[in-house]
Amino acid sequence: MSRRLLVTHALPYANGPLHLGHMLGYIQTDIWVRAQRMMGNEVHFVAADDAHGTPIMLAAEKAGVSPEVFIAEIRAGHEADFSDFHFSFDHYHTTHSEENRELASLIYTRLRAGGFIANRTIQQLFDPEKDMFLPDRYIKGVCPNCGTPDQYGDNCENCGATYAPTDLINPYSVMSGATPVLRDSEHYFFELSKFEPLLRDWFGGKFTAGKPVANSGVVAKLMEWLDGGLKDWDISRDAPYFGFPIPDAPGKFFYVWLDAPVGYLASFKALCHQTGLKFDDFLSPDSTAEMHHFIGKDIINFHGLFWPAMLHGAQLRTPTALHVNGYLSINGAKMSKSRGTFIKARTYLDAGLHPEFLRYYFATMLSDAPVDVDLDLKAFEERVNSHLIGKWVNIASRTAGFVQKYFDGRLADHFDAEEAEIWRFIESHYDDVSKLYEDGEFAEVTRKFVLIADVINGYIAAKAPWLMAKDDSRRDELQQVCTLALNGFRLLAGLLKPVLPATVAAAEQFLAAPISNFDDARRTLFGQTIQPFESLLSRIDPKHVEAMVEASKESLGTSSEPVVAPVKAASVKKPKESSKPMSDSKPAISDTADATSTISIDDFAKLDLRIGKVTACEFVDGSDKLLRFELDAGTLGKRQIFSGIRAAYAEPEKLVGRNVVFIANLAPRKMRFGLSEGMILSAGDGGSDLFLLDADQGAAPGAAVR
Ligand code: MSP
Ligand code: ZN
Repeated sequence: MSRRLLVTHALPYANGPLHLGHMLGYIQTDIWVRAQRMMGNEVHFVAADDAHGTPIMLAAEKAGVSPEVFIAEIRAGHEADFSDFHFSFDHYHTTHSEENRELASLIYTRLRAGGFIANRTIQQLFDPEKDMFLPDRYIKGVCPNCGTPDQYGDNCENCGATYAPTDLINPYSVMSGATPVLRDSEHYFFELSKFEPLLRDWFGGKFTAGKPVANSGVVAKLMEWLDGGLKDWDISRDAPYFGFPIPDAPGKFFYVWLDAPVGYLASFKALCHQTGLKFDDFLSPDSTAEMHHFIGKDIINFHGLFWPAMLHGAQLRTPTALHVNGYLSINGAKMSKSRGTFIKARTYLDAGLHPEFLRYYFATMLSDAPVDVDLDLKAFEERVNSHLIGKWVNIASRTAGFVQKYFDGRLADHFDAEEAEIWRFIESHYDDVSKLYEDGEFAEVTRKFVLIADVINGYIAAKAPWLMAKDDSRRDELQQVCTLALNGFRLLAGLLKPVLPATVAAAEQFLAAPISNFDDARRTLFGQTIQPFESLLSRIDPKHVEAMVEASKESLGTSSEPVVAPVKAASVKKPKESSKPMSDSKPAISDTADATSTISIDDFAKLDLRIGKVTACEFVDGSDKLLRFELDAGTLGKRQIFSGIRAAYAEPEKLVGRNVVFIANLAPRKMRFGLSEGMILSAGDGGSDLFLLDADQGAAPGAAVR
C-alpha cells in the first residue's frame, strides 16, 4: 500500500535572498521527496516564505515600501531560485496569507479554550523615539561581563556571555540611538509545560508505531531540554508589528514563530484547495498519513517542543518525523562576505555552474545525522568532475558511438554469461537504494554510485571496445560490451534520479526509456534502439568557481546592515549554545581575573602582542564607533583590524605611518563590515578618552612585544 506523505522544509525568511546554507537542507528535502515519489508513495511537498516579524517590517521601512510589497518581491526571488535548482514543490505559499491567518487563529483559539494560554504583564525595553518595544537584537550596549562596547541585547560576541538586555551598560536602541526605557506590557504565553507528558510520548514514538521521530542525537537533545524544565513561551508582540492580530487582543500580534510552522499547514491547505485533496485526511489526530519536516539544527526547539505541543493542544496530529541538517561552511569556515564565501543561490547560478552539481555535492555529504557540512570548493570541482563526468557520463560517451555506428542504435538482445554475472553483481548493490534514500543516507547512495561506476569502467577498460571496433569478427562481443555499459549507465541514472532530475531526464531521452521508479532502471534494455548520444554534462571550469567567489565578495565598509533574523530561541536554551563544544567558548578574562587576582607568566605568554605599522586608516561607513586599520605586521603579513576608537581620532588618515601595539593571535572576528584580525591596544576609559599605544623609534613591524 502506498504511503501518503506531507513533506515540508523550513520556511526561509522573506528578508533576503537564499544562500547556499539554506540550499543544504532544502536540497536534502527535494532529494528525499523525489526518492519517495520514485518509491511509489503519494507525496505532497509544500513550503512557503516566512514573512512576518520585526526585521522584515523594518527592512521594508528602510526600503521605503510596504511590507506586503517587500515580501512579494523577496518571494518572487526565492521561487525563481527554487525553480532553477529544480525543486519539485507541489505548492509554494507565504505565511502572510488568508489560509495562515485562519489556521493560526484557529489553533490559538483552540489552545485558549483548552486552557493553555496565560496572560502576564512583563517589563520590556521600549524605544521612546521609535515608539515601540525593542526585540533583544535591537538593543545594544556595553557587555556587562567583559566591557566590550556595541554588544547585542542577548549575548556578547566578544566573551560569549548571555544576559538580558536590561543587563547591558549604557543601552541604546539600534534603530534610533535613544536610551530605552522599561515599560509594562501584557503578554500572552503558551504554557508548554502542560505538554510534558505528550512530548515524552511523542519522542518515544507513541504516535509513530515506535519509530523514532528524529535521529537519536536530536531526540537526546530534546530530552535534555525537557528534563531541564519547560518554560512558558511568549507568543505575543506589541504593535507596531508585521504579523497577524491575536483574536480578542487589540494591539497584540502573534510572534512570528507562532504562525511560521502553521505556514506549513497553510501552504498545504492552499494545495488542497487547488487539487481537491482533503486537509483533514492529513491533519486529523487519527490520520494515517505521515507528516515530515526538514529543518536546520538551529530550529530544533521550535519543531521538537512548541510545534508538536501546539498541534496536539489544537486537536491536530503531531509530526511523524523531524529530519535535521547541520550547518554549511565554505572552504572550512563560516560563510564570509570578505572572503567571498557568503554565496547566494543566484550567484552560484549566474556564475554558470550547473544546479545539479551542487545537489550532487551535497548528496555526497548528507546522512541522517545533523552533521555540519563543508563545501570545499576545490573538492566540489574535483568530485563533480570525477564522479559525474569522469565515471558516469564517460560510460556512455565511450560506448554509445559504436552502437550507432555498427548496430543502427540497437542494443544486444541478451547478455552472455560474463555480462550476466557482472550485471547480477551490480544489481546486488542497487538493491537497498530505496532504503538508503528512505533513511536519508544520501552519501551512501553516492558511494554505491561510484562503486558501480568503477565496476563498469573497469569492465570497459578490460574489454577495450575501441580495439574490438577495428575487427569485423568481433561485432557480437562489441555489442555485448556496449549493451552492458549502457544498461549500467542507465541503472546509475536511476540511482541518482532524485539528485539529478534534469540530467537524468536527458539520459532517459537518450536511452528512449523512461525511469519512473527504482525498479525501472534495473530492467535491462535488450534489443532497444537508443538515440544518438549528446554530451549530458560538461566538466566544471574552475574559472566559474572563481567568478562565483569574486562576485560574492563585498567590498569592505559597503556592506549594508544585514537584516537581523528574529531571535530563534525563546524559552529554552538555544541549541547553538548547548551543542557547542566547550573548547569553542573563550574564557572571559573577567571570569578569572578581578583586580586583585594574578596571572602566571604562562598566561601572559599566550598573548601574541606585536608592533603593527599603520598603512591605512579610515572611517567605516555605517558605524559611528569604528575605525578600519590596515597594518603592516612584518612577517605576519598584512592585517585588517576594526577598532572602536573613532570618537577619539577625528582624522584617521593622520594615523598612517605610526606604530601601534596589537594582539595578533586573537581569533579573527567577522563583523558586519568585514573580518577583524586582531585587536589594537589603547589606554583610557572609552569614548573620546582613548589613546593608542606607540613604540619608540626602531621597533620594526611584526616585532613581538614582551
Ligand atoms: N523562518 C525560519 C524557519 C521557520 S520554519 C517554520 C528560519 N529561517 S532562515 O531563513 O533563517 O533559515 C531557514 C533554514 O535554513 C533553516 O532550516 C536554517 O537552519 C537553514 N540555514 C540557514 N543558514 C544555514 C547554514 N549556513 N547552513 C545550513 N542551514 C542553514 O529559520
Ligand atoms: Zn562580553
